[in-house]
Amino acid sequence: MYLALLAVLAAVAPAAAAAPTWWRPKRFNKNGSLLRFNYQLSDSGSITYVPGVQVYAIDFDTAKTAIPVLKKKNPAARVICYFSAGSWEDYRVAYDKSRRGIQPSDWGATLGEDMEGWEGERWVDVRSAAVRRIMVKRLKYCKSIGCDGVDPDNVNGHENDSGFALTQSDLIKFNTFLANTSHRLGMGIGLKNGLDMVGALHRHFDWALNEECNVFGECDVYEKFAATKPIFGVEYCNAYAELGVDTPDPACFCPRMIKAGYQFLFKRVDLGAAGISCTEYCAKYPAQCAAGAKKTGSCKAPKTNMCSLVPSAPQL
Ligand SMILES: *[C@@H]1O[C@H](CO)[C@@H](O)[C@H](O)[C@H]1NC(C)=O
Ligand SMILES: *[C@@H]1O[C@H](CO)[C@@H](O)[C@H](O)[C@H]1NC(C)=O
Ligand SMILES: *[C@@H]1O[C@H](CO)[C@@H](O)[C@H](O)[C@H]1NC(C)=O
Repeated sequence: MYLALLAVLAAVAPAAAAAPTWWRPKRFNKNGSLLRFNYQLSDSGSITYVPGVQVYAIDFDTAKTAIPVLKKKNPAARVICYFSAGSWEDYRVAYDKSRRGIQPSDWGATLGEDMEGWEGERWVDVRSAAVRRIMVKRLKYCKSIGCDGVDPDNVNGHENDSGFALTQSDLIKFNTFLANTSHRLGMGIGLKNGLDMVGALHRHFDWALNEECNVFGECDVYEKFAATKPIFGVEYCNAYAELGVDTPDPACFCPRMIKAGYQFLFKRVDLGAAGISCTEYCAKYPAQCAAGAKKTGSCKAPKTNMCSLVPSAPQL
């Protein structure tokens, strides 16, 4: 027994000694511009290539075919693969089985409440070892298809009616586990939303990816992240119609985001290709951004749809 253990230790020691490396993007390019980014989760698997875009965040089931296409067009492009880590999706079951060797029964008793507003999606018990085993398989899959980093979503179940008594501490443990596993596999990882955990988690994450911190007036918390790590984000032009929250005006939030060094996009909730980055918006409408920068207080516009500002050809 003892000898066998020594043999095992001897066998794994050299590998364990090698420092794992992974992609750690920088917030700014050498010329001081923000890293150019696109967040595109829909459009039935066709990812729009945009010349000059340096980082794509796309669904991991789209990524399998999209990564070779994007990297052929721009070998320096980096791809972040999105998947849900804190929920189960009914439409993902077939691919989980065929691509990742995850059987429907592997979830066991970990499925909780329906996710409000997202049909066919349920919160899961992130405390469970079964969920962690599933996430390891998903992360290994991401590595196998060439993802440079990952964007695990729904990692804030403690804030929601998940059906389980999840605490912030449970979610901090789960997120730390995801970060450690990604790094061990050689991939970067972003912290998705979960603003109340930024203080505890920013050290373990390589960037942050936020939705709607301007609408909720909570972007300042990202100051805790190292100034070298990118803060990516998106605000929605049809937030009021689709999510029931105010639609923010890019004339108001874009100057603030640029000043803070955060790379924000203005897009529809469906996260198709169409979108405009704050950098491009302020280059296109300098007078609006100058006026918006002077506004104080709330960054909320009247509850209207502002999608007419979003060009159909992505401007990022
Ligand atoms: C700055 O560098 C980035 C990345 O190389 C490039 O995409 C961008 O066009 C440059 N911007 C300017 C103003 O030169
Ligand atoms: C989960 O809770 C957060 C924080 O309250 C909220 O912003 C988000 O919309 C909720 N998610 C769902 C799917 O209900
Ligand atoms: C993750 O790694 C950190 C050090 O980077 C360590 O402190 C922590 O215990 C690890 N956590 C897990 C769950 O592996």
